[in-house]
Amino acid sequence: MFNLNAYLDEKRRLINNALNGILILKYPDNRLVEAMNYSLSAGGKRLRPILLLSAADAVGGQSTAQVIRAACALEMIHTYSLIHDDLPAMDNDPLRRGKPTCHIQFDEATAILAGDALLTLAFDVLSSQEANEKSDIENQLKVIRIISQASGYNGMVGGQMLDMIHQGKPISSEKLKEMHSMKTGALIRASVISGAVLGGGNQNQIQHLNLYGQSIGIAFQVIDDILDVEGDPKLMGKVAGSDAAKNKNTYPALMGLDSSKQFAAELIQSALQALKDFGRSAQPLREIAVYIINRKK
Ligand code: IPE
Ligand code: IPE
Ligand code: MG
Ligand code: MG
Ligand code: MG
Repeated sequence: MFNLNAYLDEKRRLINNALNGILILKYPDNRLVEAMNYSLSAGGKRLRPILLLSAADAVGGQSTAQVIRAACALEMIHTYSLIHDDLPAMDNDPLRRGKPTCHIQFDEATAILAGDALLTLAFDVLSSQEANEKSDIENQLKVIRIISQASGYNGMVGGQMLDMIHQGKPISSEKLKEMHSMKTGALIRASVISGAVLGGGNQNQIQHLNLYGQSIGIAFQVIDDILDVEGDPKLMGKVAGSDAAKNKNTYPALMGLDSSKQFAAELIQSALQALKDFGRSAQPLREIAVYIINRKK
């Protein structure tokens, strides 16, 4: 019997070890690296890197050094996005991953720079190769492109801009969906597709995994919005009620909690449907989809 918690623990350990090898405490007296390490090792769920590993598995690939590096790069980009998201000029939040946010622990300038440095380090890691390693350069290049497009103005950063400019102003459900699919969905979708590409998936598999990634990506943010209303801050490691306090556009604010939960459940059904032609190798991805709507943190 497949045990999702054991699976997630094992993959999280793999990612954390690899992340430690890349950066941690190589420069103990460097304030910038200290801040990068602080946020990176504060303990996140590591969902995006895990999705990359699971998508590679789903298409019959393996967790090669190249695949693990790409997974780490995603976590660096995600962590940078959180550091900047919490800044006073953005969501102005004091707590992240159960600890004071980077700008509170250090200062604003350091938090901005730690985010910048994590983002650029991600592309260093993505484009690197170990000595004697035979990595697949063509797919490596493809993945660099997928991840940069998902992170930038047409993806995560663009979605964060929509979040900021519509704050306090009502928006349509179409616009809200677009915002969620960009600010959070894009990087999640990119994690899944990157795993599929590096794992050697064929066009048809990548197309279906793209649909899966699209659906779970939006669902993930819908649940994040719901947890902000009714979640336990101690479990989440961040403050609840933050969205309402800032008049953020969220699904619960637009359509209420019940309809938001219904919407998330429909998205997860579409994600599962997209995996219907995959066999047992996609079982982790199926269970991760269900975990996303049931999660408490
Ligand atoms: C939080 O992401 C920010 C969103 C995109 C909703 P996670 O819920 O994955 O945060 P960590 O990585 O586990 O801290
Ligand atoms: C943030 O969405 C999405 C990012 C790209 C970081 P939120 O602002 O809702 O994330 P949390 O709730 O602060 O983690
Ligand atoms: Mg935000
Ligand atoms: Mg926020
Ligand atoms: Mg939130």
